[in-house]
Amino acid sequence: MKKLIIFLIILVLGISSVVAQQDPGNYDESKVPAYTLPDPLVFNNGSKVLTKRDWVKRREEIHKLFSEEVYGIIPKWHGKLEVISVSPKKNFFDGLATREEVLLKIINGEKELKVLILIYLPNSSKPAPVFLGYNFYGNHTISNEPDISLTSAWTRNNDLYRISGHKAAEASRGMLASRWPIKKILSRGYGLVTLHYGDVDPDDSNGFNNGAHALFAQQRDSTSWGSISAWAWGLSRVMDYLETNPKIDSRKVFLIGHSRLGKTVLWAGASDKRFAMVVSINSGRVGAALTRRIFGEPLEYINTAVPYWFCDNFRKYTGRENLLPVDQHELIALIAPRPVYVASAEDDLWADPKGEFLSCVAASSVYHFLGKMGFPSQTMPSVNHPVIGTIGYHIRTGNHDVTLYDWQCFMDFADFHFKNY
Ligand code: GCU
Repeated sequence: MKKLIIFLIILVLGISSVVAQQDPGNYDESKVPAYTLPDPLVFNNGSKVLTKRDWVKRREEIHKLFSEEVYGIIPKWHGKLEVISVSPKKNFFDGLATREEVLLKIINGEKELKVLILIYLPNSSKPAPVFLGYNFYGNHTISNEPDISLTSAWTRNNDLYRISGHKAAEASRGMLASRWPIKKILSRGYGLVTLHYGDVDPDDSNGFNNGAHALFAQQRDSTSWGSISAWAWGLSRVMDYLETNPKIDSRKVFLIGHSRLGKTVLWAGASDKRFAMVVSINSGRVGAALTRRIFGEPLEYINTAVPYWFCDNFRKYTGRENLLPVDQHELIALIAPRPVYVASAEDDLWADPKGEFLSCVAASSVYHFLGKMGFPSQTMPSVNHPVIGTIGYHIRTGNHDVTLYDWQCFMDFADFHFKNY
């Protein structure tokens, strides 16, 4: 009898978790509840932002709210970097580029973290503007080149990319090359800098004992940093290194990230003003999409499946989205006046394309306040018709992915803002 009861409990739990995973979320526009967004130009105490000085203070206020209530506080950094090795390959891609693998040690007192950075630079006499983005499964997955080192860090398992046992594998070499059109990027004069996000923090609920978290001896509380903050912190450390590399124009480092890494780059760009531009692709819930617009991925889902991406405080907003002191348009506003590009995909309803677009519109008041264009339209662009201002947006055909079309739009956007290099 006891065994039967246990069996029934397991069965019910099993069925309900499958049901929860099958099709959670609202996909009916008519069921999106009415909501009022917090105004980025009004202080918490209700007074208005009237001057640029006011904005500096209000910006700090918003950043603090995102730190304490959403992503967790990124600790102050007083450590140092050491370049362990640089393996250059000159006249790469028929003389188009130079490739470098840089093994970097990030040191905090007695503790250290090693990250392996892969860099492609166009052969030019001038320092190159670069796109900087994490990859999901290791540098060797972004290209078929046989001599790109495999990461030794904890890697997510993925049957499709033939990764199991959390170890990067030779069999996954080049499996994600379609997302990284390296030659096209180089031929337009841009460089590419990438590293595996697992090098900085394993994407696993591991008690925050490894990766970037392990560098800091910290008592955890409800505002402590989650993994997205750790990944954002890692991008800043890579930036510290890029600033020392004379072949790179560190005033033109453009962050790029897809999905959870799209959430990460928005937060990284909001937290570190050295990044000149941010490109966020299919970032959805707690990325570019408005949280109060209940459509696509529910907050409940993300807070249950991957709570360690955020600080503990964030969990209290599940089902109480209207109580959040911020919404995601303010994350974009924190990046102002720097350019931001948000990319959606027509079939990626999980990431709520309309919510991503509306965020761009709502962030624009801050751009206007700072004398910039913001997003130049109130109407959602039609599919495959990018619209660009200081904020750019497109929705393309297809699904949750990064395509050559996306990259072409991002490079057009970078040309538009930074071509005079
Ligand atoms: C899940 C998660 C999304 C996230 C995505 C990803 O689908 O629910 O919020 O963006 O993973 O990062 O791949």
